[in-house]
Amino acid sequence: MAEYDRVVADGADETERAAEAALRPKRLEDFVGQEVVRGQLSVVLRAALARGTTPDHVLLSGPPGLGKTTLAMIIAAEVEGSLRLTSGPAVQHAGDLAAILSSLEEGDVLFIDEIHRLARTAEEMLYLAMEDYRVDVIVGKGPGATSIPLTLPPFTVVGATTRAGLLPAPLRDRFGFTGHLDYYGPAELGRIVARSAGLLGVHLDPEAGTELARRSRGTPRIANRLLRRVQDWAEVHGTPGCLDLEAARAALEVFEVDALGLDRLDRSVLQALCTRFGGGPVGLATLAVSVGEEPETVETVAEPYLVREGLMVRTRQGRAATRAAYAHLGLEVPAEGTLFG
Ligand SMILES: Nc1ncnc2c1ncn2[C@@H]1O[C@H](COP(=O)(O)OP(=O)(O)OP(=O)(O)O)[C@@H](O)[C@H]1O
Ligand SMILES: [Mg+2]
Repeated sequence: MAEYDRVVADGADETERAAEAALRPKRLEDFVGQEVVRGQLSVVLRAALARGTTPDHVLLSGPPGLGKTTLAMIIAAEVEGSLRLTSGPAVQHAGDLAAILSSLEEGDVLFIDEIHRLARTAEEMLYLAMEDYRVDVIVGKGPGATSIPLTLPPFTVVGATTRAGLLPAPLRDRFGFTGHLDYYGPAELGRIVARSAGLLGVHLDPEAGTELARRSRGTPRIANRLLRRVQDWAEVHGTPGCLDLEAARAALEVFEVDALGLDRLDRSVLQALCTRFGGGPVGLATLAVSVGEEPETVETVAEPYLVREGLMVRTRQGRAATRAAYAHLGLEVPAEGTLFG
């Protein structure tokens, strides 16, 4: 999700991306949480290593910031393959994909981020490449163009998507293993911020770590960013490198992260639902326009967490607020039975 950078929405830059890269776990054993997916992936990778073959293609799905890119890098590291990176939007034409595919070497891991946004023609080329390790390269243009079939060496595709539902079934079926990442619990996020604090060389009080973990909307990326904002706060308040509960609470206040960990986008979506649309149901497009965001951003970034926290429901007629949403925003809670949700 490049469009909306949480927490540092106004200041996301190269430094922030570099900081993120520095905190990425490099091996499966350093990857915290997601026990089910991690266990399954470990079996897939170990079996392939034992057989001396490349692992089956892997699809990773889940909301932004939960570790899809991190896992793709880990897969390449675990099988000692070179990682090749591309993304759905970067592949405009099938020819772009043909160029990437024809340059693959045996054992390479091809990471395709936002795979649900691949062009249709590229998608079809990818099926063939994944299944038969074949690609037809078009040489020349116009009537004289010829197609040369090329056999590819064994390689592994790792696809990532925030919207698995948008992947056409034939493409989804080409993946031998699909891992769905879900929001992390506070204990796991606590371990993640503690690990990150260690890597950053700062002292994080356990209570401060707990506070950050509670208010990171189940997302490691947000937990790490909040940690860095607390680090900033401590820096400017004369206690550099010493992150205690006071620093954590103060920084969370400054960066407008509320008690549930909701940020500005989350709150404006709820606020619009409750006050402008009388609790809903309202269509996604209308809701998105009213908060000045793309429908996809509202749907993939804000909505899953709001639904999970029981603040919003998806109905056949659209999105609706729950009574808990009114209570959380400090609004008068409508009488029981008057809300759609
Ligand atoms: N399980 C984990 N353990 C420790 N750190 C993690 C874990 N998962 C994610 N992170 C941290 O969170 C950051 C974001 O993860 P990542 O970039 O892999 O998310 P993503 O799922 O690819 O998100 P997007 O959909 O936005 O591309 C990483 O820099 C990494 O440091
Ligand atoms: Mg990613």
